Amino acid sequence: MERRKIIAGNWKMNMTPRQAVALCAELKDLVKTQEADVVYCVPAVDIVPVVEAVKGTNVEVGAENMYFESKGAYTGEISAEMLVDAGVKYVIIGHSERRDYFKEDDALLNKKVKKAFEAGLTPILCCGETLEQRETGVTMDWIRLQIKSDLVGITAQQVSSMVIAYEPIWAIGTGKTATTEQAQEVCKGIRDCIAEMYDNATAEAVRIQYGGSVNAGNAADLFAQPDIDGGLVGGASLKADFGKIVNYK
Ligand code: 13P
Repeated sequence: MERRKIIAGNWKMNMTPRQAVALCAELKDLVKTQEADVVYCVPAVDIVPVVEAVKGTNVEVGAENMYFESKGAYTGEISAEMLVDAGVKYVIIGHSERRDYFKEDDALLNKKVKKAFEAGLTPILCCGETLEQRETGVTMDWIRLQIKSDLVGITAQQVSSMVIAYEPIWAIGTGKTATTEQAQEVCKGIRDCIAEMYDNATAEAVRIQYGGSVNAGNAADLFAQPDIDGGLVGGASLKADFGKIVNYK
């Protein structure tokens, strides 16, 4: 079975609600495609206006983070149920910026992945190595550890429906993209890891994105790799270029 591509923008901490609505209008015709799923993962305050702005289009909305509890005294946090009620379909979990700046560890991320599924959201689980880890030769060991820890207790059926994003930390926001060979190698390694943890059918079904300085010039080569099922796009998702990335063929 051919896996459907999924191309997601991660807006990070960019775009006020007004700017978000304007960007949706600018991108509306550019991101039209039958070939791939298109997702905008947006800041929490942009979710409601963006859901409204993309109504009737091919774009789905994602969140950039969530908490694992449903409600209560967790000042500043947002629950999966709130996201679902607002019209969100996807949620990024474990982005390297959250792991690094906000000290989110694998035990916490595992709880978030579980909660996302329980609430009916599709997690986009991020993993990736530092430059030091790559140079030391432990890239795949590190990523396997992340995947195995973050997916404890997650069923094969759930994994089949989720998205994993491989984002080498040294390639994020640096303009330094992994080569197609490096990206393919790790995405295949992740698929092999899923096959070992679950089975071949699950490994064949899970969609694995590459992220890290994806742009209009390199998207086609990256997305043509057999184990790369699309991209998680930062900087270039905030510009008209995102239309070219979505329509990379
Ligand atoms: P850039 O595309 O800006 O390198 O960001 C990648 C990323 O972190 C997407 O989640």
